[in-house]
Amino acid sequence: MTDSWQECMNHCVDITKQAGKIVREALEKDIAVMEKSSPTDLVTETDQRVEKLIISAIREKYPTHCFIGEESVAAGAPSVLSDAPTWIIDPIDGTTNFVHRFPFVSVSIGFTVNKEVEFGIVYSCMEDKMYTARRGKGAFCNGLPIKVSGQEDITKSLVLTEMGLKKDPEHFKTVMDNIQKILNVPVHGVRCPGSAAVNMCLVACGAADAYYHQGIYCWDMAGGAALVTEAGGVIVDITGGPFDLMSRRLIVASSPRVAQCIAQELTVFPCGRDDAPS
Ligand code: IPD
Ligand code: CA
Repeated sequence: MTDSWQECMNHCVDITKQAGKIVREALEKDIAVMEKSSPTDLVTETDQRVEKLIISAIREKYPTHCFIGEESVAAGAPSVLSDAPTWIIDPIDGTTNFVHRFPFVSVSIGFTVNKEVEFGIVYSCMEDKMYTARRGKGAFCNGLPIKVSGQEDITKSLVLTEMGLKKDPEHFKTVMDNIQKILNVPVHGVRCPGSAAVNMCLVACGAADAYYHQGIYCWDMAGGAALVTEAGGVIVDITGGPFDLMSRRLIVASSPRVAQCIAQELTVFPCGRDDAPS
């Protein structure tokens, strides 16, 4: 029996390569930066152009499929996950990195059916690393299998997160306090590479042992979620409970033990849901 989702995945890899080429070419030119919700929430013409290209190339082949794309949602499209085949797209994950040419910039696409991620593709454009994972078939970087470090000891872990300036001072304080708590465990170190999708791939390939974040979006998480799970890692809610793709928060880790140790340290703050009525 043919695996029709595998066909979708092959198509997705082709489109992601094309998208990555556009992103790389844009890095050679002047980048005009616009602000979205705040001076630290950036968007460029390339984000918008790449998302349009991805959606039109998929829609041409799969006209009945649904989409949740960062820039489409910013322009007013709904962000609701149904049981239908759905492509969840971040045309540039790490837009601030892109603007500064800081080398972690990715195109990230996750594909869900019945709200389950069937495959994920994350192309780290400047590094030319194509991460791919199909449910039940493993995780790969440029065609070679990858796996998590398997680290079980939080005190020997390298942990990734984000420091981003939050509009709410209370939330910002909690983010900084949480980083301090993790550093005090102690861990080997905390890093903030600036692309959620790349962070998840770094855990998937064993270069880091965990990543946590409150306040990201489903398009930041969908592609990387497949990578982490298929590479043998775990993905849970920030409380340590089951992961919810629309919850805007997660912990990914090399082992359940490391994930739970991080969950115990973190103070949770409300960050809304992707599918909250606007
Ligand atoms: C951002 C990056 C960043 C994360 C932000 C995201 P964007 O995505 O993934 O690492 O901390 O919360 O919004 O805006 O560059 O697509
Ligand atoms: Ca983005």
